[in-house]
Amino acid sequence: MPYKPLTSLLLSWYAEHKRNLPWRNTSIPYRIWISEIMLQQTQVAQVIPYYSRFLKRFPTLKKLAKASLEEVYLLWQGLGYYRRARMLHEAAVLMNTLHQGKIPHEYDLLRKLPGFGEYTTGAVLSLAYHKPYPAIDGNVNRVISRIFAIRDFVGSTSFRKQVKDRVMDHLAVNDPASFNQALMELGSLVCQPKKPQCNRCPVSRHCTAFSTLSDPNMLPLKKSKKKKPHYAIAIGILLKGARVLIARRAANELLGNLWEFPGGKKKHREKLSDTCRRELKNKMNIDAVVSRPLIHYRHTYSHLDVTLHFFMSQYVKGRVKLKKHTQFKWVKVSELKRFAFASGHKKAIAELKLLKL
Ligand code: ADE
Repeated sequence: MPYKPLTSLLLSWYAEHKRNLPWRNTSIPYRIWISEIMLQQTQVAQVIPYYSRFLKRFPTLKKLAKASLEEVYLLWQGLGYYRRARMLHEAAVLMNTLHQGKIPHEYDLLRKLPGFGEYTTGAVLSLAYHKPYPAIDGNVNRVISRIFAIRDFVGSTSFRKQVKDRVMDHLAVNDPASFNQALMELGSLVCQPKKPQCNRCPVSRHCTAFSTLSDPNMLPLKKSKKKKPHYAIAIGILLKGARVLIARRAANELLGNLWEFPGGKKKHREKLSDTCRRELKNKMNIDAVVSRPLIHYRHTYSHLDVTLHFFMSQYVKGRVKLKKHTQFKWVKVSELKRFAFASGHKKAIAELKLLKL
C-alpha cells in the first residue's frame, strides 16, 4: 500500500534535511540504545561529546556490562539524571546474562528491562531493528498535536491515545526508523515549542493548527507548571591538613550515589556560615570553624532551584559519623576528579583547584 501523503512528505523532507548526527551513521543497536538514553531530557549538542567518550570507553555491550557502576557514573558526570546511567548499566548486565549479550528484538522482552519505557522500547525497536513501533517523545507529541489539533492536555490518557493512534495510522511500515526520526526532527528544527516556523514546514498544508488557529503554538495544551522551589544551601569544604572531606549520597535520594561536600538548607534567619557549621556537625559529627566564602552561584535541577554557597572551613574535632550519607573519604584536591560529583559542585571544584592547596 502506498503511504499517506503526510507520511511521504515527512519522509522526503527528512531525507533532505536531517542533521548528520553520530548515532544516525551506525546500525549497531547498542550504539543506538546509548544515544536514545542520553537524549532523554538532554539536548543533542550536549549529548554528542558524551556519546563519543562513552563509546570509546565502552565500545560494546559486554564492556559496559563488565564495568563498575562507578565508572559509568564518572563518564555520565555533568549529563544529569543519573538514574538513566544506573538503569543503563543494570540493563546491560541483564542483557549480558539473560540475552547472550544482545539487545532483545521482542517488544515484551525489551520492555521488561530497566530503563525501557514505552518510548525507549519503541525507539530501539524501530531505529535499530526497523520494526514498526512508534517512538513518541516530547517533539512528536507537539508535532502530532498540532497537525491534528488535539486539544486534550498533554500527558493525559486521552491525549496519549490520540497521538499514538495518529502515529500508528501514518507510520511508514517499511522505514519506521526514518519515519520516527522525521517526526522528532521536524519538532526540533521546524515545529518548535515557542516559534513554529510554519513557512518552512513540509506538512503545513496538512496541519489543522496551521489552518485554523491564529497561533499554532497554542498547542499542545499544558497544565500550568508549579513553580520550582528555591533553597539556599550552605556547603562546607572542610579541610584537615591537605585533605578535604567528601561524602556519598544514599542511592535512594535525589542525586543518589553521587559524591558531594557536605552541607544543607539554610533555616529562616540563619546566617549562611552558621548553616554550614551546623550542617557539618549535624550530618558529619564534625566541629569546624567556617573561615570564608569560596564561591556561590545558582544551580537548576529538574525540579528545584538552589543557590549553593561554598565555605572554606577547618576541622577542629570529632570523628566522622554519617547520618544519611553512605560513605565518606578525606581526599586531596587533586584526587577529586576520580569521584562522580553532583553537577552543582563542578564550578566550586574548579575554584578550589585554583587555590593550589
Ligand atoms: N531525540 C531522541 N532520539 C533522537 C534521534 N534519534 N535523533 C535526534 N534527536 C533525538
